[in-house]
Order: sequence, then structure tokens, then C-alpha cells
Amino acid sequence: MWITFILFNIICLIIILKSVLSYLLNIRKLPRGPIPIPFYGNKTPKDVHPGLCQWYSDLRDMYGDIFTVYHGSKPTIVVNGFDTVNELLINNGSIVHTRPESGVLSFLHDGAGLVWNNSSYKTIRKISSIAMKSSIHSSESDINEKLREVLKGFEGCVIDLSNPLKDLVSDNICQLIFGEENKEKFGKIMELHFGSLQLLGVNKVDSIIRLPFLKYLPGFSSNWKESIEYKNKFKGYMGEILQEQTRQFTSDKICENFFDTFIRHRQTQKTNQLGVEDCFATVMQLMLAGMDAVHGSLMWLFLYITIDTSVQQKMIEEIISEIGLETRPRQKHMSSLPYCMAVIYETLRISNVAFTSLPYTNQETVTIKETTIPANSSIIVNLVSINKDPVTFPEPEKFLPDRFVDKDGNLQNITQFAPFSIGRRACLGEAFSKAGIFTAMVTVLQKYELCSVEGEAYETKPMMGFLSTPPPYKLLLKSRTSSTTSQE
Ligand code: HEM
Repeated sequence: MWITFILFNIICLIIILKSVLSYLLNIRKLPRGPIPIPFYGNKTPKDVHPGLCQWYSDLRDMYGDIFTVYHGSKPTIVVNGFDTVNELLINNGSIVHTRPESGVLSFLHDGAGLVWNNSSYKTIRKISSIAMKSSIHSSESDINEKLREVLKGFEGCVIDLSNPLKDLVSDNICQLIFGEENKEKFGKIMELHFGSLQLLGVNKVDSIIRLPFLKYLPGFSSNWKESIEYKNKFKGYMGEILQEQTRQFTSDKICENFFDTFIRHRQTQKTNQLGVEDCFATVMQLMLAGMDAVHGSLMWLFLYITIDTSVQQKMIEEIISEIGLETRPRQKHMSSLPYCMAVIYETLRISNVAFTSLPYTNQETVTIKETTIPANSSIIVNLVSINKDPVTFPEPEKFLPDRFVDKDGNLQNITQFAPFSIGRRACLGEAFSKAGIFTAMVTVLQKYELCSVEGEAYETKPMMGFLSTPPPYKLLLKSRTSSTTSQE
């Protein structure tokens, strides 16, 4: 008993000493930054908006475009400003395109799928993007028809659009993944996926991944077992869906969803690079990546155009003159509605739904603007430093869609703008999101004028959370057919 106790203490001491030594050695090799407290890291603001964003901006003033921060004991290199980010992700894209090992997410996704799989992410990106292109065309009519139906019930109502928009976005993503709207499957996958994490909690999972023997200790072991059971249930359920989709698959199918493209790939490739785990994890990652970002962007957009009624007026005038109130909006109409598109771009810019990239790691040492980033670092890009750069976007905190319109009234292509990040691992859902936001936005505006409600505060300070979302708000929906705008 005593021997075990002493051995345990010696092992702990060795682990601690080893960590302190490598911690101190590492700090010296990394780009400059605020001095961290050993193991605790830097004192970071609790909220992302404006806390963390403002902190990064202050650190940039002190240390330049590239600096190191410690969230806990792990160093992260933060890269700012379009030119520096371009140098990192485009000019050095062959070195900086993989993702680092991520404890909790590796546990949840078994290191498979699109986002955390460094060996075959290119193949999964390719098959996912085929599914996205196909899905934009096949689903836009059905989904917006359904939105029109849902909207019919809201005439003259004061309403929070959050839930109808959530339904719309999840239907869109279901179409992409299964080729049908299926709330039951969507809900069950989400529940099983998060179940295992909820049982253990992020911190316990992280500790077990670092020190695997912990899972045998009281306080960890029973939760760990249940958590693994949840994960197995998730895989079992996904396996059933894959079997069902494989039965329905025919090789002459034209419209494809993610399952179809995955099945086609596995049937046509001689050497199978992808396993079923890649399919299961990618489904989850597409759901997670897409759902809140598109929903959040739509909520921001409707909030901004309710506050600034002159913007809304200009949008509806453009809609009436170009496609009218009855034409079903589709991706092909985007080019004839440049001002409406400018409103989408300005919303993406000002709201910064995703304020940083996902983490990157570099396989070799890179030197950017005389700063050396050692191989195998964890790097993130601060997208706010690009999208709110006052040189490219004067008065960056103001909502001014006209900055995206040129003197001839065309949509202006601003290179130094990156809400979806840039480079080989930029957001895969960019075109899919723009099409979804565009059709939903035009469908709502064709039917209703969005009016503010007396006594309702329309705040533009984002809520707590990693993705930026607006605080809840309600709108008064006035029917267009009886409003003066549509009579003109
Ligand atoms: C307005 C909506 C969206 C915004 C602002 C957004 C933004 C982003 C950003 C900033 C990244 C990180 C890129 C990097 O690490 O450099 C990302 C990654 C990603 N996004 Fe989106 N996203 C949106 C919607 C979507 C949708 C609808 C989907 C799919 C259905 C999606 C799928 C992905 C995937 C798969 C990745 C990881 C790509 C990779 O690792 O190769 N996103 N997104």
C-alpha cells in the first residue's frame, strides 16, 4: 500500500518537473507575448465579445501582428492583420494547413472526419463540397416554400424569429446530409453526440486524455464507462443510417447528399482511404459547423435592418424592382440584387460570428515578417483584426452596407475581408451559407416589413459564447401586401 503511494507520488513529481522544464524551454522559442503564470497561463477575459477580442487587439498594439498567449498551460500563437494572415495561410499554405491534436474533439470524433483528420481531409473536403453544390440547387425551392408557409401564420405578430430560423437552418443541413428534412435524425444525432461529453464534462475528458490512468480512479471510472457507451450508441445509430442510405443509393442518382457522395466514393475507389468513422464524424462536424453560424448570421441581419429602416427600405426597393414580391429567390438571383448582397456581407463583417479561425499547426518552422513560428505550434487567426481593420473599413463599428457597393452600384469585391477565413482550410460552407442566408432573407422581406416593437431594446452587444449571437429580440411583422412599399 505504502509502496504504491510513494510510487504514485514519485510519478506525479516526475510529470510535474518534466512539464515545468519543457514549459520554460518552450516560452523562449515562441513569439513574444504576455508572461504566463506557470500551468495557469495568462489571465484571459471570460467573455469573448468584447473581452477576448479587445484583449487580442491590445496585445497586437503591444507585440505586433504575431504574439503568443497561454490559455491554460498550452501556448497559442495568434496571427493578426490581412497581410500577415495572407503570408501565413496562402504563401505558406503548404506548411500551415493541418489541425493540431485537440483533446476533447479527438475523443468525440476519434480523430476522424473532415476537421481533425490531417491525413485524408482533402478527400473528405472534396466529397463534402460536391454534396454542398448539389444540395444548394436541389433544396432551395423546397425549403423556402416551407418558410413561406410558416411565415403565413405570423401576419401582424410580434415574434422572436429565432425558432423558425433554427428550423429552417436545420432543415437545410438535413437536406445536405441525408437528402431529406428529418428533425428526428438530426435531434437524435446531436443528443447522442453531446451525451458522452455532458456525462464527463470537458475538463474530465481533457484530464483523461492527458493522463489515461485517471479513467480507472473513483470519480472518473463510472462516468467514463457510461460515456463510452454513449459514443458506441452514436456509432451504432450512425451505422444504421449509413446502411439505410446505402440501400437507397443508386449509382445513376443525380442529386446527391453527403451520404450519397460518401457511398459513391467508397464504391468507386480501389484503395479505400476513408473509413465509416470519417463519415460519422463528418456528419457531426457539418452539423456543428453550420447550424449556429448561419442561424446567428440571420439573427444579426434581421436585427440590423430592423434598427436601420433606411437599409431595409433600400433592400425592398431593389427586390421589387429586380424580382418582385412573388418570384421565389434562388442563388441565381444574387447577382441582380447587389445591395441585398452588400447587406449580407456587412452583417458577416460586423457580427464576426466566428471571431477566430479553427486552430492550425505547422509541419515545419515558418518565419513571417521576421517572426519565427517553431514547427508543431498551435496557431489561430484573429479574423476580427481583418474584418474590423479601420483602414479597409473606416468606422468599423458602424453598420454601413454601402461600403460593399462600388460607384456603379455593383457589389464590390474587397480582398481584405475574411469572415470565412482564407486558404486551404477556409470554411467549406461559404457558398452554402451565402445561398441559405440570401434566400431566407429575401423570402422574409418579400412577405413582411420588419418593424421594431415599442419598449423592446435592440442591443448589438453579442451574448456570451464562442460564436457571436445577438441577445434575444422580438419584431413586429407587417404584411407587405398592405404596406405602402409594395403598392408602389
Ligand atoms: C455564416 C456562416 C458561417 C461562417 C461565418 C463560418 C465560418 C467559418 C470559419 C471562420 C472557419 C474556420 C476556417 C479556418 O480554420 O481557417 C470555418 C470552418 C469550417 N466551416 Fe464554416 N462558417 C459558416 C457556415 C458553415 C456551414 C453552413 C458549414 C457546413 C454545413 C460550414 C462548414 C465548415 C467546415 C467543415 C469547416 C472546417 C474546414 C476544414 O477544417 O477544412 N460552415 N467556418
